[in-house]
Amino acid sequence: MLTEAKNFITQMYSELNYDNQSLNERLTAISAEITDTGSYTHTYEELSYGAKMAWRNSNRCIGRFFWNTLTVQDARDVDDEDTFIASINHHINEATNNGKIKPFITIYHPEHPPKIFNNQLIRYAGYDDYGDPAEKQVTALAQQLGWQGNNTNFDVLPLIYAMPNQPVTYYEYPSEIIKEVAITHDQYPKLKSLALKWYAVPIISNMDLKIGGITYPTAPFNGWYMVNEIAVRNFTDSYRYNLLESVAEALEFDTLKNNSFNKDRTLVELNHAVYHSFKQAGVSIVDHHTASKQFSLFEQNEYQNKRDVTGKWSWLVPSLSPTLVSNYHHGYPNIMNDPNFHYKQQEKRGCPFH
Ligand code: ARG
Repeated sequence: MLTEAKNFITQMYSELNYDNQSLNERLTAISAEITDTGSYTHTYEELSYGAKMAWRNSNRCIGRFFWNTLTVQDARDVDDEDTFIASINHHINEATNNGKIKPFITIYHPEHPPKIFNNQLIRYAGYDDYGDPAEKQVTALAQQLGWQGNNTNFDVLPLIYAMPNQPVTYYEYPSEIIKEVAITHDQYPKLKSLALKWYAVPIISNMDLKIGGITYPTAPFNGWYMVNEIAVRNFTDSYRYNLLESVAEALEFDTLKNNSFNKDRTLVELNHAVYHSFKQAGVSIVDHHTASKQFSLFEQNEYQNKRDVTGKWSWLVPSLSPTLVSNYHHGYPNIMNDPNFHYKQQEKRGCPFH
């Protein structure tokens, strides 16, 4: 822990041009605290800058140009249910920001945090014949806890959580804080009849945040969507909403034969629909060309600051027209630097009853 703390503090102080004396004082204090207590406590500034660095080091994220704009809610002192729920609702409200989405993270206590069982704070339930198949497990858990959905394609799952040493329970959000966008297409009015929608803010809630040797197991965070995450993957993957045929029908393409290229046309029009529906609703969203441009700017900034850009190519390449953006045409070293967000080990995920 001391080594990782040293690396982090030294890097942070050097990036922020703090003088050597304050660096040494802080390192001495941390070292004493670890000797005394086995751990150390981040200042708010360390927590906040560490979280930003974790975003900057996220190899799978194409949106890292904005790493420095992250707002950090320090929730390390949250220890009762009401303040916990209030901090989650505060996150959703601040991040949604009436549609002008703010990158936001809420960080709970590293050692005795409330535990969140959802993959994202806002997500649609998955049933046998409806909804998002990716959420079947979480949906089953919610149902075991007594939650009942409406069996629609878009039932917002409740927050499933446990306070330290307390049983797992759930909380249904007030519907007015969950912003959703109905999907329509200006040139294909029939698309509306599919009654598609998606929620505005993707708030990942199943990853560990690691800063300077300290792991924060509960640290939900969000940016805004890139259009193809919704249109290409969530709506179109065969193991997700699997909507290619229904959308093609609504767009009145008469065939989906491979060599008609209508599968591809359908996909493009669905991206157009999702993007412009979000824009029309005043909700932030980015197209893949712009996101990739922004990523190039991020790369330039990093090189100017003498830092290497690490990345995972298969994730940085967008799922629509990948070769049209620059990310496709070069590789990235997929080295994981800390601070970073880490997947949880398997035994810490999944159903708490099994
Ligand atoms: N791909 C995930 C989804 O479709 C969201 C991942 C985070 N995305 C983001 N733009 N911050 O829900």
